[in-house]
Amino acid sequence: MKKHYPVLLKEIISIISPQNGGTYIDCTFGQGGYSKKILSYPNTKVYAFDRDDKASTFAYNIKKKYKERFYFKNKKFSQISKSDISNNNIDAIIFDLGLSYTQIFDPKSGISFKSKGKLDMKMGINEFSANEVVNLLEKKDLEKIFYKFGEEKLSRLIANKIIIQRNQRKLHTEDLVSIIENTKRYKKGTHKATKIFQSIRMFVNKEISELLFGLINSFKIIKPGGKIIIVTFHSIEDRIVKYFFKNFSEQRNYSRYFPDVQNNKKLFILKNKKPIYPSNSEVNKNPSSRSAKLRYAEKINESDVFQDEFLNKFKDLVEVENISKKL
Ligand SMILES: C[S@@+](CC[C@H](N)C(=O)[O-])C[C@H]1O[C@@H](n2cnc3c(N)ncnc32)[C@H](O)[C@@H]1O
Repeated sequence: MKKHYPVLLKEIISIISPQNGGTYIDCTFGQGGYSKKILSYPNTKVYAFDRDDKASTFAYNIKKKYKERFYFKNKKFSQISKSDISNNNIDAIIFDLGLSYTQIFDPKSGISFKSKGKLDMKMGINEFSANEVVNLLEKKDLEKIFYKFGEEKLSRLIANKIIIQRNQRKLHTEDLVSIIENTKRYKKGTHKATKIFQSIRMFVNKEISELLFGLINSFKIIKPGGKIIIVTFHSIEDRIVKYFFKNFSEQRNYSRYFPDVQNNKKLFILKNKKPIYPSNSEVNKNPSSRSAKLRYAEKINESDVFQDEFLNKFKDLVEVENISKKL
């Protein structure tokens, strides 16, 4: 297996300062790159989550070393507020939304367009797979998923070809790749199938509502003064995170959705207006870090009136996820 590099690790450590100890949540444990580094400082404690149960093996090894300071749960991060950790004086909550090396390089995960065989794309704790999406959903639904989640201009054409070809036989990963390759013109840079694969993966794993509720619930459980830190890898994720931090760090007189409630409190101090990018030397060592963007903010006030406004802002994306009710 290829070497695993935790993205923007140095930058994250300098934001959270674990030299002073503290309690942290690693929402996307993966191979434990962030957790291990944090635990290497004395007087730190880490609660880690990952929806992929393959992460449990890496977690088990860390637990052996840090019995009293490390806890792992095979759960989705949208569920953090349902865990028994909210009273723990959390200093920082960290998300790294990319794919883990095991997910990218396991040919059975079907997440990469380099995979072969049955379509899958499940990250863990799922209700359906890419196989059902591609082989069962109607043309207009496929088109919507490709367009909204993949921002793919040829969504209609690709959805059309899928319907024609799957009438002959069930489509596998390599069939989907060849449909896309035969439809799109060559463009330098990313692989032609990247956007469509991204869109199906987001749909299968409900990544939009995971992110929305991950952020909402992180805000609920972190202490005032604590930091929420997120590394994103594509523009839709970044748009959501940017809105969350920026919008709720501005002074507003009242909430449009709760006009009777005085809501003039800022929820956050935005620490960096612009995102933080990996250095050139990190990108040289780990080219897949090139699209990473880090944003973070510090919670300053409690509030329970922001949630509806936030969810409403992205309701068109959640509606796309709701197409899955037809499966
Ligand atoms: C890029 S990897 C994290 C790598 C990690 N920072 C490290 O250094 O090893 C992202 C991980 O997040 C997990 N993940 C993605 N969405 C999740 C969710 N909604 N809840 C919990 N885990 C999630 C994936 O299964 C994957 O293992």
